[in-house]
Amino acid sequence: MAEARVRQKAVLQVLLAGIFLSCLLNPRLGVAQANAKATGVSKYVGPGSCAASACHGGVQPSSVTSVLQNEYSTWVVRDAHFKAYRNLGTPISQHIGRLLGIDNPAASPKCLACHSLVVSSQDKARDFDVEGVSCESCHGPASAWLEPHTLRGATTQKSVALGMLDLRDPMHRSEKCLSCHLGTADKDVDHKMIAAGHPDLVFELDSYSAIQPPHWKPAADPYHDVHLWAVGQAIQLRESLRRLARHAEGANWPEFSDYDCFSCHHGLTKPENSWRQERGYEHRTPGSPPWDSAHYAVFRILAREVDPAASQQLESQMQGVYETASDLNGSRKEVSEKASAASETANRLVAEINQTSFDQARAIGLLQAISAQADSIANQDTRSAEQATMALDTIFLCYEKQAGSHPAVRAAIDALFQEVNNPSAYNAPRFSSQMHKVNAALRDSGITVH
Ligand code: HEC
Ligand code: HEC
Ligand code: HEC
Ligand code: HEC
Repeated sequence: MAEARVRQKAVLQVLLAGIFLSCLLNPRLGVAQANAKATGVSKYVGPGSCAASACHGGVQPSSVTSVLQNEYSTWVVRDAHFKAYRNLGTPISQHIGRLLGIDNPAASPKCLACHSLVVSSQDKARDFDVEGVSCESCHGPASAWLEPHTLRGATTQKSVALGMLDLRDPMHRSEKCLSCHLGTADKDVDHKMIAAGHPDLVFELDSYSAIQPPHWKPAADPYHDVHLWAVGQAIQLRESLRRLARHAEGANWPEFSDYDCFSCHHGLTKPENSWRQERGYEHRTPGSPPWDSAHYAVFRILAREVDPAASQQLESQMQGVYETASDLNGSRKEVSEKASAASETANRLVAEINQTSFDQARAIGLLQAISAQADSIANQDTRSAEQATMALDTIFLCYEKQAGSHPAVRAAIDALFQEVNNPSAYNAPRFSSQMHKVNAALRDSGITVH
């Protein structure tokens, strides 16, 4: 037994030495590192620098090193981000380009900003070809930590101190993902682009982390994904408020992608069948498009639990944002000011939620509280219903992993997905009634806080 462990340790040391050697033997890296040392600022080296088979370009995952070492292969073979640049040359991109007056999307800074790693020559430690969204698009420019992170005794903390982005921290991870999946002042997918054919940017940190083919080892904490979800919600609310403020101050206002898509894009019915008319138009005039509050619909329940005082302040600020943004004749300045103030409160909650620990009791409390809000969530339209569905799914998955399966609850949650499958045909009373079934199934299965 002891012998086996010693042998394993020896193999590990040989492997780590191998990483070090093969990376240093890569002549392109030598230049990169010399540059980093000269300037003291980390610069981009391109994905090829990570691809050596003893670094991150292995074919099979390694079981002896702390990381899998086949990250590059996973990215090239399975990750949508690798294809992001190539997809700018497809017929659909040509079609989007044609409608927007862009000759060649694959050469347009407007598209490259999110679909590739484009950096100015002074931010590059060496020259490399334009590829998709690559290692450094997420992990940060590598020249300063590239060599040190291959040395024996290297740790994530040490690399982070040299400028690597700490993606294990859900806060940093979320901000990084949203820089492309929601946009920033410099890169944006607005309604014009969506109307030209670009997919709508719907993002939820935990679900998207689950879809991305993992090139990392799973977390040990069974409630890791709930934490990811919670922090992701807080940051996404903050960022969507900042986006609203930016748009209200900008050249194209109102910006329809800030509003609930399906308030405009739903099928019409006879008045006696219209759940929207039955529901009414609280805090806005009938027929005006509401600001998309989907990132608040579920988050408010979590906020109330974590910090009742801040959540009360946020509640009244959010109502102000909703009312002013949903009045298309209102003052843009007021929209921007209210959104900025609310984003500050959301920001306070971000830090608190990042430090909150999630366990079984909290998960059960959230499952119950979210499913108990069936009517109010359902009535806020499709996007909020989607958020609630993804939240219940995430939290329940974690609970099941720890406490065993409960087919009745699982079936009730799966049926919620059916209700949001065709967004233009979404029906709030039907969604709400299914959500009540989730709530009842939790109770009947004895999933309650004692
Ligand atoms: C530099 C911009 C950028 C960053 C940062 C980024 N993404 Fe993406 N992501 C994209 C683009 C562009 C696509 C679309 C790729 C394609 O299909 O052309 C995409 C696609 C995806 C997809 C596939 C979606 C689908 O419909 O299959 C997932 C999942 C995803 N991203 C998750 C994430 C996560 C999680 C993060 C943060 C850890 C992240 N992304 C960070 C730009 C980015
Ligand atoms: C703010 C960042 C951003 C900008 C700017 C942007 N995109 Fe995207 N694009 C994305 C993301 C994120 C996705 C993936 C959406 C998802 O699946 O959730 C995507 C997806 C796509 C897809 C669908 C790919 C697939 O797998 O089906 C096409 C096509 C596309 N973008 C083309 C373009 C074109 C053309 C431009 C420039 C006019 C552009 N994009 C600009 C972020 C961006
Ligand atoms: C779209 C964003 C994205 C891209 C692109 C990306 N990564 Fe990652 N990477 C992540 C995230 C998120 C994690 C998970 C952090 C965690 O929870 O441990 C991660 C984890 C890792 C880890 C494990 C780190 C650890 O401490 O366990 C390695 C190694 C890694 N990535 C290498 C790469 C390499 C090499 C590439 C390019 C071939 C790459 N990544 C591309 C987002 C990305
Ligand atoms: C205030 C109303 C309004 C809102 C909100 C709105 N749109 Fe639109 N959208 C329109 C109008 C008007 C058109 C142009 C329709 C036409 O030309 O027939 C359009 C066109 C489109 C088109 C192209 C036409 C088609 O049917 O394929 C798409 C796709 C689209 N919108 C998606 C969205 C998405 C996704 C959102 C939310 C992020 C959204 N819209 C929010 C009013 C709106």
